[in-house]
Amino acid sequence: MAQPLTIVIFGATGDLTWRKLIPALFNLSLKGKLPPEARIVGVGRKDYTDATYRAELASPKKVPKIMGAQFDAPKWAEFAPRIHYVSTDATQAGGGKPLADWFAANEGGENGRRLYYFSVSPDYYAPISAAMAEAKLNKSAAGYRRLIVEKPFGKDRDSAKKMNDELHVHWEENQLYRIDHYLGKDTVQNILVFRFANTLFEPLWNKQYIDHVQITVAEAVTVKDRLDYYDKSGVMRDMIQNHILQVLTLVAMEDPNKYTADNLRNEKMKVLSTIRIHSEADAPKVMALGQYEGYPSELVAAGLSPDSKTPTYAAVKLELDNTRWHGVPFFLRSGKGLKDRYSEVMIQFKCPSRLMFPLPPGQMLQCNRLKMVIQPNEAIELNFQTKVPDVDGVSLRPHNLKFDYKEAYKNQTLPEAYERLLLDAVMGDASLFMRADEIERAWEIMDPLIAAAAHAPQQPEKYAVGSDGPASASKLLDCWQPIG
Ligand code: BG6
Repeated sequence: MAQPLTIVIFGATGDLTWRKLIPALFNLSLKGKLPPEARIVGVGRKDYTDATYRAELASPKKVPKIMGAQFDAPKWAEFAPRIHYVSTDATQAGGGKPLADWFAANEGGENGRRLYYFSVSPDYYAPISAAMAEAKLNKSAAGYRRLIVEKPFGKDRDSAKKMNDELHVHWEENQLYRIDHYLGKDTVQNILVFRFANTLFEPLWNKQYIDHVQITVAEAVTVKDRLDYYDKSGVMRDMIQNHILQVLTLVAMEDPNKYTADNLRNEKMKVLSTIRIHSEADAPKVMALGQYEGYPSELVAAGLSPDSKTPTYAAVKLELDNTRWHGVPFFLRSGKGLKDRYSEVMIQFKCPSRLMFPLPPGQMLQCNRLKMVIQPNEAIELNFQTKVPDVDGVSLRPHNLKFDYKEAYKNQTLPEAYERLLLDAVMGDASLFMRADEIERAWEIMDPLIAAAAHAPQQPEKYAVGSDGPASASKLLDCWQPIG
């Protein structure tokens, strides 16, 4: 008989649970990927029973709304009995006991596999860990005890270090799975496959051939109902310090000798440690910030002060001090309230050292460009020059070679990042999770820039909702591509 497997979600009634985690687990079970013995236990303060909690998740505004047409009611009826509920305030001393009692009554011994998920505010990580340790929920002689923690992981290097230290009181590093959901996206993982399972590109992947790299996560939505969190965080903490820096590590790293969690994370860590740390005084030269018009009125509607200096858009230039990348700028940018929603990596190759074809006066050559579109139109596009047919002389025009994920994999949908990450944590594969040192270094890189934004005498430059972002961002570098 398979060892018992239990996925315990702290914060059972929170948004993340019904928006992402339960749909991901349901989807995994629909695909036959969730081990049949797996059970899910929601832990929260509210007074649900198993039956009322299941009914709440299945109510029209929750899981069915998120899954839309994919919500299969008869299949849900088969899946729902795997979900349980334990009511307790796990942040208080003694708060682990009801869960320990549940395990004693339902798991049949101490040797089960348990994956805990902290889907709660990071302020609660330390008290919940303490209550769990008090109830001996964090250690096992056999089976395993693993813990997934969500972002935000700190607000600067010191607070992240403190969180790591607090977690390490009750958990070993190899029990900890820190989520960055961008790493769970297939198209992000494909960056490594594209680079290291093909011969063509890797020889060109360096300062000799690459002019610069742009990594963009553009969002059309504005912040609205998450202002309490967002206004304290801003785009630098919300997107650049984590998701975008993580994507950068995959674009820039060397290939490890084997694809294992620690090898991979060692290589990513090497990239982070080669990123030059700008001083606060450098910030105006390497960073442009913006705030969409209408952000202050959203703040007022949420009962907050409109005078916020929180940036909703940032463009940042980073450089890596290693042989492969010396002198190649990496431009990172992200914003809300922009014209389009898309995430992509763009590699701008250098121009040929000389061109034998005469260009019409004033025409610049658009040199080779490779785009890896992470979402929503997942693709890889290679842009190159072609000869315009049937014209006198030689006339050049750029065109695209395109690989489209949805077309190439017609019968396979790209899974939600959380499906992959939950399954990896169940299996003990930490490759796509962040290690303590990666997070602390990522903050070290961003802290001076975040401080510069906070100390700026004025609010960030305004930009219209539905635009390309603030004008200063395009001025940061001439080669900057407009959003869209
Ligand atoms: C989250 C941020 O981590 O990522 C959000 O907190 C952002 O502000 C989201 O909208 C973007 O994720 P995705 O997968 O939709 O690009």
